Order: sequence, then structure tokens, then C-alpha cells
Amino acid sequence: MKAKTVYICSECGFESAKWLGKCPDCGSWNTFEESVVTKPAKASKGAQGTLSGARGISEPVRLSELKAASDERYRTGISEFDRVLGGGLVTGSVVLVGGDPGIGKSTILMQICFNMCAGRRVLYITGEESLAQIRMRAERLAGDAISSYESLFVDAKTDIADVLESISRIKPEVMVIDSIQTMYRSDISGAPGGVSQVRECAMLIINRAKTEGISVFLVGHVTKEGSLAGPRVLEHMVDCVLYFEGEQRLNHRVLRAVKNRYGSTNEIGVFEMGEKGLAEVKNPSMLTLSGRPENASGAAITCAMEGSRPILSEVQALATQTSFAVPRRMCAGFDYNRASLIIAVLEKHAGISLSHRDVYINVVGGIRLIEPAADMAVALAVASSVKNAPLGDDIIVIGELGLSGEIRAVNAISQRISEGVKMGFKRFIIPHQNKLAGASDFGDVQIYRAKTIAQALALTL
Ligand code: TYD
Ligand code: MG
Repeated sequence: MKAKTVYICSECGFESAKWLGKCPDCGSWNTFEESVVTKPAKASKGAQGTLSGARGISEPVRLSELKAASDERYRTGISEFDRVLGGGLVTGSVVLVGGDPGIGKSTILMQICFNMCAGRRVLYITGEESLAQIRMRAERLAGDAISSYESLFVDAKTDIADVLESISRIKPEVMVIDSIQTMYRSDISGAPGGVSQVRECAMLIINRAKTEGISVFLVGHVTKEGSLAGPRVLEHMVDCVLYFEGEQRLNHRVLRAVKNRYGSTNEIGVFEMGEKGLAEVKNPSMLTLSGRPENASGAAITCAMEGSRPILSEVQALATQTSFAVPRRMCAGFDYNRASLIIAVLEKHAGISLSHRDVYINVVGGIRLIEPAADMAVALAVASSVKNAPLGDDIIVIGELGLSGEIRAVNAISQRISEGVKMGFKRFIIPHQNKLAGASDFGDVQIYRAKTIAQALALTL
């Protein structure tokens, strides 16, 4: 065995023999951490020649002769979660669940363990809490039902060798590691949570999961910048990466897939944190619209597609006289650059002067609007605030804004309108180019098709 010092980029896992200021792979600055790895001595040259034969490395085979992996899926018992996973948890897959501290990762995974332990062996490894704390949470979540969870095992361990030992003993089909940052390997240097520890521990767990067909949830912490702590390589190593988002002070949480080898990454799951843990929210539009002020200026409702689901969202804007040389623009839940562009279009093509006004934009309810179809809502909310005139409570605006002030077509228009109709909205402004085949299907509503932002403004304000 030989000890070697290497430097590893904490962003992407790039390894270098010397310390570097900037990572040549991912371009981040000051991300190199020193790490000592112990590698087995290299095999002698003679042995390398016969490596494949000696180690039994498999020969390449014809694609046509390969057997597909079984795509058996376990239901997690939480349909919002199953949907984000692409229809359930694939057996033998590794899912990384990331999110801010206190967002509810341990809570939802505990609830999933309850649901999955019927007829299956489930192991929950905690490196963060004591067993007594786990018991307290479980009682809060399940009450007396705990006694019926015969095949749910809990273990408080942080040394990865002990964890592997527990796995051998319990032989679980489903397992939770809460969290990967607390695990460490005693034979390599570096504090738990550092790049090399996280990577090595994850590697050991993933290898074990793949060889024994165990489905694993890894909990990962998120750094201040919002990415998963530890190396990005963690994201490459697992099959699915899910992020749990939401604001602490609001009760609802959004689960989003950013990588999924077994399904789409567009789906989201919406939950509400309550007395008894996280409950599914079947009708997110109701949640995002609740508590909406009546007839307020500076607000516009749009319908965004989150995967296959339409969700209504409220955009609020506030435009005030600036006291700065350069007016401020602030966005929450919406892309800053996109907002600057919309503000510029409003100036140029709708005659709304914003160069001496601060503009604040907020998407209510903690859901991020990433679709261009939300442009119109932002534009009209800003215009409504400037003019101090409400758009009206029964109106929904949908459309992407082009640089010449034109409103561009969006996808899934009928689905968006249907969602609005379902929630009681009566008027819709949609892009002119969007053809509506069965407009009469929507019942007693008015649908306006606008070509430009100026037209949309004339219709509303
Ligand atoms: P937790 O799952 O411990 O978060 P994480 O593992 O992501 O750090 O969630 C902790 C928060 O959730 C804490 O602020 C208390 C709250 N909570 C509830 O509101 N209701 C509940 O039933 C539970 C178990 C927790
Ligand atoms: Mg936790």
C-alpha cells in the first residue's frame, strides 16, 4: 500500500497532483481540497499483460444478445413521489435526495420507509440523529402504528465499514442513508463531508446496492450556493437526483427531479408539511392561489406546465420611484436576466417607462417559473403596478414575449386553459398563433388572442 496526496475539485471531482486555483475541468475557483488516498501497489508489468484473463473481465458481447434489466418498480406509497421517480422506485436503483436542512428529507424518507416495509426488509441508517430522536419522529408520524412495522430496521452509524456490516446482517431490499455527508471511511484521510470521503463512501454503498439489488436513498446536504455538498461526481454516480425545495416559513415543498435514468425530469411533486409529516397536495393550483388579495394591482396569474401538469401561479410585481442612480431589479422565483429583457421590451414596445423605477418581481408560493410562457404574466404584472390598475381577478395570461414585443406561441395551450377553467377563471389572454380547435369545450369563458404586448395591454389595462 502506498499513500499519495492528491487534490480534488469539490465541484466536479477532478483530480490533480498539484493544487490549482482554477479547476481546468469545470472552471470553478478555489475548489481544490487536499486528500490522501491509499492505493494498493500497482501490479507488475508482467501481470498486466494477462490482466483480463486473470481477473475474469467479461468479453464484449453483442447488443442483440443482452438481456434488459428488469424494470420492476416498488411503489413508495406516496404517489407524488412515485411520479417524480417516473412511476415508482426501480429495484436496485440509487436515488440521491438533496435539499436544505430542515426542509423535510428525513421526514419524507421515514414516511416512505413506513409504506415500503410491508412485506419487505427496510433499513434506515442515520448518521445525524440518535435512535431516540428517530423514535420520536416516528411516533409523531405514525403514532401507534409503529408496532406493526416489523421489518423496518434502524441503525445509527457513521463508519461506512459498520454500515456495510449492518447491510450484510439485515439484508434489506430498501435502504436509506441519512446523510452521505456524515459517513466516513476510517482508512482514508479527510473529514466526513469532504470530497474524498463522500465519494468513497458513496462508491462503496452504490457497489453494494448494485451487486445485491438493493434500492437506496442517499440523503445529501445542500451548500449555501444551492448545490449538493461534496463533489458533483455524486450526481454522476447515482441513477436519480431529486431536490426538495420550498421556503421554510411556507408549509409547502416541491420535489423536483434533476436527473432520472428511469423517467422524465420534468415532473414535480408538491407536498405540504403538517403535524403528521408531509402530505401530498393533489391540487397545487389551489395552494399557490390561496390567500390572494382581491383586485390588487401588480399581480397576474399564469398557467405554467410542470412536466405533464398545469399549475396556476401568481406573479407579483412592484414598480416604485427609484432613489438610486441605477434602478434596482429584484426577482424571486423568476430568472433575473429574463426579467431584465421583459422590462426592456415593455419600455420599447409598450411605452412603459421603467428607467427611473425600481422593479421587484416575486412568484408567490415558492414555485419557480422557468418557462417562457410565464413572460406575459411578468410583463402585465409590472405594467399593472406602474399604472396602479388591477388586471382583474378572473384573468389568466399566457405567452412568451419576443424582443419585438410580439407574443409567441406556447405548448399545451388547451391543458393550461382547462386548468384555469377548473379553478374558476373566466378570461384568458393567449398568443395569437395558438390555434384552439375546441374552444367551445371550455364553456362560458372568453379567450382573447393577442399578437403583441401592446394589444395585450389594451385588452387588460
Ligand atoms: P427534517 O425531515 O428533519 O428535515 P431534514 O432531514 O431535511 O433536515 O424536517 C424537520 C422539519 O420538519 C422541522 O422543522 C420540523 C418539521 N416537521 C413538521 O412540521 N411536522 C412533522 O410531522 C415532522 C416530523 C417535522
Ligand atoms: Mg435530516
